[in-house]
Amino acid sequence: MSRLAIIGAGYVGLVTAACMAQLGHEVIGLDIDPERVRLLNQGGVPIFEPGLAELIAANQERLRFTTDPAEAHATGEFVFLCVDTPPTYSGDADLTRIWQAIESMPLSDGDRVLVTKSTVPVGTGASVQAELARRGFVRLDYCSNPEFLREGTAIQDFMHPDRVVVGSNEAATRARVAALYGPLDTTIVETNVASAEMIKYASNAFLATKISFINEIANVCEATGADVRTVAHGMGLDKRIGPHFLQAGIGYGGSCFPKDVSALKQLAGNSGYHFQLLTAVLEVNELQKRRVIGKLKRHLGDQLRGLRIALLGLAFKPNTDDIREASAIVLASRLLAEGAEIVVFDPVAMENARSLLPSIMYASTAEEALVGADACVLVTEWAEFVHLDWAGAKDLMRRPLLIDGRNALDGETLVGLGFTYEGVGIPQ
Ligand SMILES: NC(=O)c1ccc[n+]([C@@H]2O[C@H](COP(=O)([O-])OP(=O)(O)OC[C@H]3O[C@@H](n4cnc5c(N)ncnc54)[C@H](O)[C@@H]3O)[C@@H](O)[C@H]2O)c1
Repeated sequence: MSRLAIIGAGYVGLVTAACMAQLGHEVIGLDIDPERVRLLNQGGVPIFEPGLAELIAANQERLRFTTDPAEAHATGEFVFLCVDTPPTYSGDADLTRIWQAIESMPLSDGDRVLVTKSTVPVGTGASVQAELARRGFVRLDYCSNPEFLREGTAIQDFMHPDRVVVGSNEAATRARVAALYGPLDTTIVETNVASAEMIKYASNAFLATKISFINEIANVCEATGADVRTVAHGMGLDKRIGPHFLQAGIGYGGSCFPKDVSALKQLAGNSGYHFQLLTAVLEVNELQKRRVIGKLKRHLGDQLRGLRIALLGLAFKPNTDDIREASAIVLASRLLAEGAEIVVFDPVAMENARSLLPSIMYASTAEEALVGADACVLVTEWAEFVHLDWAGAKDLMRRPLLIDGRNALDGETLVGLGFTYEGVGIPQ
């Protein structure tokens, strides 16, 4: 059993805290948001992540939260940095919160390891180590331990990871951090700090590339009459390609892929290398979200002004309330610019969207969103949308036009019900 301080109680920090407590470690979570900490100490959970509330409740004895850095650092043999690293306007990673967290670390005795789980550009670990040395931290080791969990299945991903990457320039530090994950049945990749940092960026950039690739194939399918679902299936059976991340749709979003692809592109550029492939990946993803507008216009005419468009889903994917960089945000904004009326429904993410999209309408059920709609766009493939009573839904709409942005619905059945159905990369 070890004592861990987890800095940042967001999606990664809370899952890490709860799972590390479940593995038997004693954990204190630190956050700068007093409301968040108050809620957590009262047994509440500030984010939607399946199973998280239960896991936190089950590990209460080994898990507490504070806003006081001195209290958190007094107990931690291992200090995990899990703060957010959002994009700046330039597309680089904003490391403000990393530096704030480091500045609030009190200089204290004892052998400790600072472990960075936040996604940071290659070279950040070296800068952090130099800063800590300058501030007189002599008995503090450093480790890059990037996180690969996916929102919606985060606990499963943490407890059954494909690999754990442990990057330190000291073998003893790598062994100490790897030992924390001892109970997990997984492969530990031991490497230096820079390579660990790059593994995270390269992994996300590769997955985003796969998505943009299949989306471009889908667009060519639309122009040529092939069906991207069969194409992806046929491709994915090739073990060198694999079936994952070959689902065509209206683009990736979320708190990781967009910012990490952009940060890697900028990192390369800042180092003097022009990463052309990533420029295309980003551009394809942007255009992919906007293609929905063209599809709507093809069916509804060039003027969307005054038409009522229902968007089902706001979260960037099902089973999360995270709307960061969600395709729905761009789509809603584009449709507003066209003068359309937008009505949305999402099972859990609506509160997060209200301040970002104040001039759209928020329905309290999917059915309510569809009443009087000229078109429906399925943006997030929540199970409740896939299993909606679509026959009943059709009667609620003014026009039965359904754009399936995730190829999640059975188009043939919907056409049989009288819908005009259009997926992504599916022949009309
Ligand atoms: N969300 C994911 O699916 C995911 C997956 C893998 C990696 N990551 C990476 O993990 C990091 C965290 O992401 P997230 O989604 O958990 O972010 P988040 O925004 O959900 O949580 C960050 C938390 O850190 C807190 N915080 C900010 N500055 C602080 C400080 N100085 N001291 C204490 N707390 C502070 C914030 O209040 C917030 O609660 C990012 O670098 C992200 O790229 C995220």
